[in-house]
Amino acid sequence: MIIKTHKSIPSSEITDPAVFKQRRQLIKAMLALGITGSGVYSGFADAKEAPLTATSADIVKNHTNYYEFTYNKTDATALAQALPIDPWSVEITGEVEQPGVYHLEDLLSQQTLKEYIYRFRCVEAWSMVVPWVGFPLASLLKKVKPLSSAQFVQFTTLFDPKSMPNQADNRMLDWPYVEGLRMDEAMHPLTILATGMYGDSLPKQNGAPLRLVVPWKYGFKSIKAIVKIELLKRAPLSTWSKSAPNDYGFYANVNPDVPHPRWSQSSERVLGAGFFTPRRKTQLFNGYADEVAGLYSNMDLRHFF
Ligand code: MTE
Repeated sequence: MIIKTHKSIPSSEITDPAVFKQRRQLIKAMLALGITGSGVYSGFADAKEAPLTATSADIVKNHTNYYEFTYNKTDATALAQALPIDPWSVEITGEVEQPGVYHLEDLLSQQTLKEYIYRFRCVEAWSMVVPWVGFPLASLLKKVKPLSSAQFVQFTTLFDPKSMPNQADNRMLDWPYVEGLRMDEAMHPLTILATGMYGDSLPKQNGAPLRLVVPWKYGFKSIKAIVKIELLKRAPLSTWSKSAPNDYGFYANVNPDVPHPRWSQSSERVLGAGFFTPRRKTQLFNGYADEVAGLYSNMDLRHFF
């Protein structure tokens, strides 16, 4: 079975051809690690389209946003190594038939890990392509049986000010970091929980051991180091919407026509592209419109930004 999980990009946009050449070896390595499942492999799903090619792993692993550790893009690589991630458990609670505190390894033993090569677009107008390893969030939610009253899903990051130094100070953001999705967004097959990238485990600075990835939304929705998943009747208030409601809406769908109050979203800087490479035009829903536009068919996307 082949599932097409992305829109491909033209080969002219390839960020790092070296990584592309390494992909076959990565697949072999992943197979050796037992982290591909029934053959679903997003990168080569459609022979008519050029495959998505990953941004250099070096860039993705060293240009991060992890405000619990630092407000710059480089220091989380070192600082996040202090985060204890084993053992790890996730509380699943709220409007669900089988609430509980689950050991991560038990949750993972019920899932088939696969590779998902997705565009990733930050609200700050930079972008990259990341080969995540993970599984559909829907697959986890179905196991705990959401009640029909569940309309939204809220995610919470670990609160541990001893290892996450900025959590000791609430001036910039209210901790712990919280994000949310509407139930149909959460159940969409493109929405994954990631446990790895580049055929290996997830680096701590990128959100280990478990993070959300929602490829058609701005990167801040893709919350890291998740310890709690709560099914709710009403929309949660996410960290960024709470801190700056006019700047960061609940939906945060990538949209070139809805500017951030302080900058345009019509184009993006592709990380790893050469200095003289022009900015890339941003695509509606980050290029995933065929798959997800139907979720928002009767909505004014300027109002629900
Ligand atoms: N999750 C937590 N807990 N803390 C954060 O600071 N930053 C968000 C998102 N998830 C963030 C987070 C933002 S702004 C972005 S763009 C992405 O993570 C960045 O993911 P990356 O660092 O793996 O590229």
